Amino acid sequence: MQNAGMAALQLNWRYLAFDVHPDRLRAAIEGARDMGFIGLNLTVPHKVLAVDMVDLLDEQAGAWRAVNTIVFETRDADGNWVPLAGVAAGQAGEVRSRGCNTDADAIARSLQEEFGRESWRGAAVLLLGAGGAARTAALRLARGGIASLAIVNRTAARAAELAREVRREHPGVAVTEGYPSHPVDLVLNATSLGLKADDPPPLDPAWLKARRPQFVYDMIYRPAETGLLRAARDAGCRAAGGAGMLLYQGARALELWTGRPAPLARMRQALEENLKSYV
Ligand SMILES: NC(=O)c1ccc[n+]([C@@H]2O[C@H](COP(=O)([O-])OP(=O)(O)OC[C@H]3O[C@@H](n4cnc5c(N)ncnc54)[C@H](OP(=O)(O)O)[C@@H]3O)[C@@H](O)[C@H]2O)c1
Repeated sequence: MQNAGMAALQLNWRYLAFDVHPDRLRAAIEGARDMGFIGLNLTVPHKVLAVDMVDLLDEQAGAWRAVNTIVFETRDADGNWVPLAGVAAGQAGEVRSRGCNTDADAIARSLQEEFGRESWRGAAVLLLGAGGAARTAALRLARGGIASLAIVNRTAARAAELAREVRREHPGVAVTEGYPSHPVDLVLNATSLGLKADDPPPLDPAWLKARRPQFVYDMIYRPAETGLLRAARDAGCRAAGGAGMLLYQGARALELWTGRPAPLARMRQALEENLKSYV
């Protein structure tokens, strides 16, 4: 997806994956900066660790206390900090790292695209999971004015911790732990259950049938059709997987690195082709 986007923008760049031990994350970020990398994406468990390892945070990374994108910046001829990409190769002086977060808005944008709903103000949400993706979704939806958030997680202590954080940051949202007794508008799966074909469902299919939430979103994008999505459609819910979320966080990251609009259609096509090959 990123390499297709970069090619469409005629950039002589490559997007590469590196397996970095969390103990070496600081050294990896500094090494990438010193080697002239344009930027980085980070995934679990690095997103939270990196908050203290970058020179500054943008508004989003500051709000969610998680970094999924780093932009290396340098000064232009007028002394303003700009993405490294804006300065001719070899001309950069001092370089700093800006920690950004493109995940939260990607969730909101994908939910809007999939379900045609601009706002979730007043909605009742059931969140499955309490890891990094669940936390970002919970805080983003709470900021968007949902009425209630019920959190279900295998490890109850993590659900309780997330519930405390959402209550503290957004006292107007009614946050509970466990399955709610009231009707639910949106179920969001942010657990890893569904990645493997023999995983148990993250949510009891009987609950789905009985309660019939209007919308079910599974953050998992591979496989494209998870057991949860099948069960949700069988129960008459509108259901969508997480490919849009992946696309939009990546497209925004590319925009931050380049300062140019992302070639969304080309990136979407590359992503869809790639995901099809995993069916
Ligand atoms: N679409 C996208 O762009 C996108 C982006 C990020 C993540 N995701 C997806 O979101 C999911 C969570 O990612 P994450 O980054 O939040 O990971 P994470 O921080 O490791 O959290 C994993 C979550 O899954 C739960 N879980 C794991 N194995 C389980 C099991 N066997 N039974 C029940 N619960 C289990 C964990 O519960 P415990 O707390 O009990 O361990 C935790 O709530 C993954 O499936 C990932 O692929 C999608």
